[in-house]
Amino acid sequence: MTFTVAIDGPAAAGKGTLSKAVARHFGFAHLDTGLLYRAVGAKVIAGADPVSAAMALDPVDLEDDSLRTPQVAQAASKIAVDPKVRAALEDFQRSFARRSGGAVLDGRDIGTVICPDADVKLFVTASPERRAERRFKELQERGLETSLDQVLADVKARDARDGGRVTAPMVAADDAVLIDTSDLTAAEAIAVAVKAVSAARKPDAP
Ligand code: CDP
Repeated sequence: MTFTVAIDGPAAAGKGTLSKAVARHFGFAHLDTGLLYRAVGAKVIAGADPVSAAMALDPVDLEDDSLRTPQVAQAASKIAVDPKVRAALEDFQRSFARRSGGAVLDGRDIGTVICPDADVKLFVTASPERRAERRFKELQERGLETSLDQVLADVKARDARDGGRVTAPMVAADDAVLIDTSDLTAAEAIAVAVKAVSAARKPDAP
């Protein structure tokens, strides 16, 4: 059985939390596609050529904890505008989506470009301020030094770059279910996501 859940949205909107929860609930595999771009961004910071780094990417590269820094996030969004980098990462994402047993992929262009035929698509948003607060808290908990203002500026810069690029801009698919998590707890947002996926699995259910 293949069943693909596409979850897109801007930085720190709650995609990671929702993707993991949906994957756990339905027993699907999960791929955080942001890690692919972060891993390429990290290699570029270390001096590599972006396209060569994307073509040579190894799944082991995704396991590095240092990919979660704001510096790597910015580098990721810069290399992510390059169509050649994006093309080099497509096959891996598409084969993951088709794996048997179901898959959840989260990113920016999953429902529009990578899996336009996904069984269910969610587009998760929240106000830039709420997203910055959440990301700031996460970074603080991980001991990374930054300020709320800096995180908000980073979030806005990435929103502009990710939404404004020519190739695969971040945009909700026409058939995506929109979830605004600004005023939802994680549990409430998870309940909405699980309900949307359940409805797509049983289209004839009352
Ligand atoms: O976790 P967060 O939402 O902050 O970011 P991420 O999902 O790890 O993505 C990091 C960057 O990779 C984004 O800002 C995008 O520029 C890029 N990205 C992309 O272009 N396409 C994807 N499918 C996933 C990430």
